[in-house]
Amino acid sequence: MKTLILSIAFLLLSTMISHAATEHYTLAFRDDPATTIVIGWSGDNGTIHYGLADFGTNYSSYPYTHNSDRTGGAHGITRHFARLTGLNPNTLYYFVIQDDAGQTSQRFYFRTLSDDRNDPVSFISGGDTRDGFSLFGAYIENCPSGDCVEKRRDGNKLVAKIRPDFIAFTGDFVMNQITSNTQNEWSSWLNDWQLTITPDGRLTPVTFSRGNHEDMFDVHEMFDIPYDEYYSLNIHGGLIRLYMLNSELDACTDIGQLNWFTNDLQTNTGTANDPEWKFVTYHVPTLAIGKDGDLRQDQMDCWVPLMEQYGVRLVMESDSHSTKWTYPSKKNATGDDFEVAQQPFDGIVYIGEGQWGAPHRDIYYTGANAKLFVRDAGTFDNFFFIRVTKEETTIQSVKFENVNGVFSILDNELGTGLPSNAVLWNPPNGNQVVLTKPINTSSLGEKELLATSVYPTIVEDEITIDFGREISAAEIEVYSSLGKRCYTKRVDQLTEKLTIQWDEVCQGICYLYIKMEDGKTESHRLVVQGK
Ligand SMILES: [Fe+2]
Repeated sequence: MKTLILSIAFLLLSTMISHAATEHYTLAFRDDPATTIVIGWSGDNGTIHYGLADFGTNYSSYPYTHNSDRTGGAHGITRHFARLTGLNPNTLYYFVIQDDAGQTSQRFYFRTLSDDRNDPVSFISGGDTRDGFSLFGAYIENCPSGDCVEKRRDGNKLVAKIRPDFIAFTGDFVMNQITSNTQNEWSSWLNDWQLTITPDGRLTPVTFSRGNHEDMFDVHEMFDIPYDEYYSLNIHGGLIRLYMLNSELDACTDIGQLNWFTNDLQTNTGTANDPEWKFVTYHVPTLAIGKDGDLRQDQMDCWVPLMEQYGVRLVMESDSHSTKWTYPSKKNATGDDFEVAQQPFDGIVYIGEGQWGAPHRDIYYTGANAKLFVRDAGTFDNFFFIRVTKEETTIQSVKFENVNGVFSILDNELGTGLPSNAVLWNPPNGNQVVLTKPINTSSLGEKELLATSVYPTIVEDEITIDFGREISAAEIEVYSSLGKRCYTKRVDQLTEKLTIQWDEVCQGICYLYIKMEDGKTESHRLVVQGK
């Protein structure tokens, strides 16, 4: 009898302990996303059991095991990390964590990214998930629903429905230093993050940029990103070179980060294997349009010229708790502002500025003070959904509305689109920003030596392209000043001149590219009169 009571007591005790054995599951990229991943969790240490087939929670059936490689943590939370390597690209992996107390986690799975730049990819970019500051239980910051954390949870639920291939998180998780209750805040953040897991156990990998509410090494300690807290990744074998910068380090005087960034951009420019796109994430905007409209002069002086020189096309910012997307833009002559780029492929689109639930702030530059390089701005909870192919990058902003009514994407294909009834931001200049690439700008001929001519250059009804000789093949593309491709045509018969009706071609300043049989590309700038 005594033994029985003891056994029951032991069983009860072990059940109580084992319930909290492992928790707070996360995935992070810190190396090649096609072949590696970091699985992170809190609580007991343990071993990953994984494989290509789903054995549920029957851990001993999985063919591979991997012990945790590192134990870290911060703010009273212990984190364990297993860095899986040697994975197959574009493949589903199922896993459980068998902890040291003998308890098995639920069965999770993830998909490795592709190593083929011809495969599309879709990701979510956003940040600023912190709660509002409250005094005696009342919010003194603007949390419209009365609870900022509720909106962060809505965003997390949307992640599970959208099933992006990964998330580029742009910083500011919790309040941190201000409330000094960081263990509870981080624990609540990690608990809420579990809402991003789909009902069938799919975890989404994340890349991280450090925000100003994170202490140095917090992100390294919580998610196992590299120690320096700045790094770059090759997405889909060169479809995207993605840079995660640390805006808590001075852009000019932190030589370590600046040299690394410069070298990495140089190494990935002008080679036979250049990435199709270069994108950058960091937390504090170079020129914030929310908050107090702050300018980060160091970033304007030391990052922006580099990004412009090496062909970065998209920058994802956060921090000011509002929303913007810009036209393709460049640093202005005096270096204190941006201006719309003359050539769309020459400028950078800036999106942000962190509204994953955090307290709302007004747009600083409005009316007569509105910034001309900003295409649209607003204040509402949202993140960006970005789909990238070799030819085109499409950016949309998903509002945290009708969350329970949004359909779930059901497949795990890379590059899948949004659920059809997701609520999109639809400002005056349209509900998406599209980045396109000219046919081949690197082979653009010198203006004075152009073989082709186009007339008239101020267009009303039609234009004529004079190839300057009889040709049998050419490709023609026309882009708007926003970088949107609005016309394509292939010439595949003998001709010297070609007339194009302008009915369906873009308005305003346009760029016409002609790729000839010999691979040479020539460009012409046109001004199209509105009808
Ligand atoms: Fe911030």
